[in-house]
Amino acid sequence: MKEALEAIRAAARQAIAAAADEKAVDEARVRFLGKKGELTGILKQMGALSAEERPVVGALANEVRGEIGEAIRERTAQLAEAAMDARLAGEVIDVTLPGRRPAQGGRHPFQQVLAELKEIFLGMGFEVVSGPEIELDHYNFEMLNMPKSHPARDTQDTFYITENILLRTQTSGMQIRTMEHKKPPIRIVAPGRVYRSDAVDATHSPLFHQLEGLVVDEGITFSDLKGTLEAFIKKLYGPDTRARFRPHHFPYTEPSAEMDMSCFKCGGKGCPMCKGEGWIEILGCGMVHPKVLESCGIDPEKYSGYAFGVGLERITMMRYNIDDMRLLYENDLRFLRQF
Ligand code: DAH
Repeated sequence: MKEALEAIRAAARQAIAAAADEKAVDEARVRFLGKKGELTGILKQMGALSAEERPVVGALANEVRGEIGEAIRERTAQLAEAAMDARLAGEVIDVTLPGRRPAQGGRHPFQQVLAELKEIFLGMGFEVVSGPEIELDHYNFEMLNMPKSHPARDTQDTFYITENILLRTQTSGMQIRTMEHKKPPIRIVAPGRVYRSDAVDATHSPLFHQLEGLVVDEGITFSDLKGTLEAFIKKLYGPDTRARFRPHHFPYTEPSAEMDMSCFKCGGKGCPMCKGEGWIEILGCGMVHPKVLESCGIDPEKYSGYAFGVGLERITMMRYNIDDMRLLYENDLRFLRQF
């Protein structure tokens, strides 16, 4: 029986040492110490021993049981430690690694110019308003003194949705929308998208932007218009910039004019930028037509006003020396990162 106990001791040591995980350790426990285990089997036979042998074998059996139990606890602890080490190694964080820089966006050059324009006009006491891009013919044309038969409509190739609904071709309709619900004094600018059925090239796009301006009050004259618009281009292009007004025709202003500014590149001497002219056309303007005031319920005998409309792409392109309008819409980061 002593040999049997020694054999169990050796077999148990080996099995426990070889156990690769908790499950294998538990299997060894059941195999040697369990109710039907090998050691229990021996103990059950103790009754057959002589009175002298029994305490000796009993002591040995206790010793072996204690040893197996201890080996199991040790192996379990070893395995737990190894598992923890493996987990820590797998989850290691190198706190000395440099951080990841968050990608930072920037304002599109067009938005930068628009923000600047708003700032300039807000500074001169204007209010910034906006209106619908899908517009009624009524606001886009009719009320601006351009009835359906008017030849000036032909200069704006219009996207019609129905006979009376269209994509606005100009922001000038905002003059009407403003005067309909607001009485003088009125001082607004209305930036926004406009649409015309033009083919895309370096200076045309079916979608572009304008900024409309309208001032109506008692005693407004053409010199108010000139003073304000001159101040505007000086703020935008520098104090040496000069303005020039050429007679023109718009159905909703009388008199009407186009404003040129002295070339920001050559200062007026003539260069490729201004095609040798020294001047660059930048906006249309005029004194609000009395008929327009009247149809909005504003007495043209008492009030007068001026209006203007600027193409924002042009302003942006001149501001940043961009020679192709398509660059503003292509969202090419190589281009946009320069601003
Ligand atoms: N609506 C004109 C255009 O699209 C620009 C314009 C000219 C606006 C004269 C005005 C104005 O308010 O008075 O070309």
